[in-house]
Amino acid sequence: MILDSFPREPEDRVRALREAIEHHNERYHAMDAPEIPDADYDALVIELRRLEAAHPEFADVNSPTRRVGTSPSTLFTPVHHVVAMMSLDNAFDDDEITAWSERLARSLNREGVGDLAFSVEPKVDGVAMSITYVDGVLTQAATRGDGVTGEDVTANVATIASVPKRLTTTDGDVPHILEVRGEVYLPLAAFAAMNTAQRKAKQKEFANPRNAAAGSLRQKDPAVTATRPLAFFAYQLGQLEGVAKNSGFNSRSHRAILDALSTVGLPVAQEITSALGIDAVIAQAHKLEELRATLDYDIDGVVMKLDDLDLRDQAGSTSRAPRWALARKLAPEERSTLLKEIEVSIGRTGRATPYAILDPVFVGGSTVEFATLHNEDQVAVKDVRPGDTVIVHKAGDVIPEIVGPVLSAGGKRPKVWKFPTKCPACKGVLVRLEDESDTYCVNLDCPAQRAQRLAHFASRSAMDIEGLGEKVVERLVDLGLITDVADLYGLEVGQLSGLEGMGEISANNLIAAIDQSRSQPLSRLLVGLGIRHLGPQGAKDVARAFASMNALRSASIEELSDVDGIGHVIAESVVRFMANPSNVAVLDRLDAYGVRPDIAQSGAQETGNGPLRGKTIVVTGTVPGFSRDEAQEAVERAGGKATGSVSAKTFCVVVGASPGASKITKAEALSIPMVDAGSFVSLLETGEIS
Ligand code: IVH
Repeated sequence: MILDSFPREPEDRVRALREAIEHHNERYHAMDAPEIPDADYDALVIELRRLEAAHPEFADVNSPTRRVGTSPSTLFTPVHHVVAMMSLDNAFDDDEITAWSERLARSLNREGVGDLAFSVEPKVDGVAMSITYVDGVLTQAATRGDGVTGEDVTANVATIASVPKRLTTTDGDVPHILEVRGEVYLPLAAFAAMNTAQRKAKQKEFANPRNAAAGSLRQKDPAVTATRPLAFFAYQLGQLEGVAKNSGFNSRSHRAILDALSTVGLPVAQEITSALGIDAVIAQAHKLEELRATLDYDIDGVVMKLDDLDLRDQAGSTSRAPRWALARKLAPEERSTLLKEIEVSIGRTGRATPYAILDPVFVGGSTVEFATLHNEDQVAVKDVRPGDTVIVHKAGDVIPEIVGPVLSAGGKRPKVWKFPTKCPACKGVLVRLEDESDTYCVNLDCPAQRAQRLAHFASRSAMDIEGLGEKVVERLVDLGLITDVADLYGLEVGQLSGLEGMGEISANNLIAAIDQSRSQPLSRLLVGLGIRHLGPQGAKDVARAFASMNALRSASIEELSDVDGIGHVIAESVVRFMANPSNVAVLDRLDAYGVRPDIAQSGAQETGNGPLRGKTIVVTGTVPGFSRDEAQEAVERAGGKATGSVSAKTFCVVVGASPGASKITKAEALSIPMVDAGSFVSLLETGEIS
């Protein structure tokens, strides 16, 4: 969670949030190079607004919450917007849309909005543009900039095919000054083609269509822009002067204005619909969301606008956004693409996982080229075959998934895919055990497994050795410098520096990081060893019970099964691991290298002697002074167990700000005590509910 890294003390937090938002505004608007996903940016803004509302004493007219975008860069001539270009307020679910409609009704002094018409529009993910026509002739195009001053990009916008250079004037009723606002965007097909060309020319690919559109508009040479197949959708009026009496532009209905724009030759998205009352608006927004995967342009939301322009005037605006419009942000996304091939990768346990190689497709905020297919059965259940067109689903930052094939009626399907019988890395046999869905390469010497095992050992969830990622590990394995995890501790700077991409400094850093990992707690070492069935929680339970590697190495199945949370399967697996001769050798060598976590290093966290010993705590919502991870760690340091779900075994539920409703309901149903966030510290110290 991005907010975890911000100071908790409100004044510092507000300051840090403002600085971060300014920085990301600059990256996004001025440099076209965002560093964080939009959802994270939104989280920063929402948190800042929340704090500003709760602490009016920190108010600041320069706060980014009071402004839109960022100041224009100095590359292009500044353009003053006669009518300010505002931003939109966001909603993230249907309840927030309803709440907005209630606020809107209040600002209009009405009971509700049931009898009001709204426009429901795709929120095209491109670059906002103001285009001015004087007597029907394109005279100026400007970006939004900070909402008041934008950049003159007329020459570039004039190269866009769908932007008319001259408006169609059938009966001479084109206004004297017509400023239209809309979005310049890059159609998805064009985006894919552009990136293919960039790839071929060995140029950096564009992260997404929005960045590609922004970059194309920011060209100093319009001839370059002209090679980029940009397009434009109009969705709003800006300045308007000299309108003939019978002109459609005299209308006080937004829909009628859109129609007038279309009549004079400006492109208006076909997907825009009208809806009466907020329930219909919500239903239309859902319909538009369903259409998303079929559109030839990227949308990041649905915009809803009050249709009646007189009522809009009455509702007015805040300093950054109108009250009469709202953007419902969308996160998950689905798109179709060609499944080129299915291949199999070998993990550290030897598991052979089939994955799809796709024609790169932009979905859910990034370009997806690979997607896991999990196992043989999943490929069969989904019935996807190389050569199929498949639907790829990706919600925000989650792992992309193949939903299934797109089947055309009567279309001939490609051949069914067969799971390979040989390991792609070592050519050994692949074995699928009875009653298991997974297939394994059973060759312990398989180089793919070795590298994966070592990379896992060094990963953040295990020994957390910075600088020892998969690539470096693979190189060290290939060079024969390491074959097992113990070898890491025998590495010397001289062996590393000089390797491709590794100078003396990074070699020194890596050796230092490896050295430092010696003091990681026992549970992390256990996770790193990759003992089958033993997950992070199990590793903590075991570490707490046995306190040292030596004690654990001589533990019996019975002793292990006695540990709370450890079942027979895990116990057996641990014992089998500890008895395996090659593991014995590795563990002996780790010990000799001083990788010997014991109670002294592991602290109360693993000895379980803290005040919360034997108690399971659920923390829901935010507790002041703690990030979610920190709250969990604090519970564990006090000897307790922190879990995410309430059950009869829960000792108590700590209720912070914005708690999970289902956890509260469940705690009430099971009569589990609930304590407020203020009592958290005393709970940690005493182990009792105060
Ligand atoms: S109306 C005062 N309609 O979303 C209302 N904006 O965060 C101004 N956008 O800057 C905007 N599609 O770049 C409107 N159908 C649509 C839109 C739309 C995309 C963008 C636009 C604006 C941003 C608001």
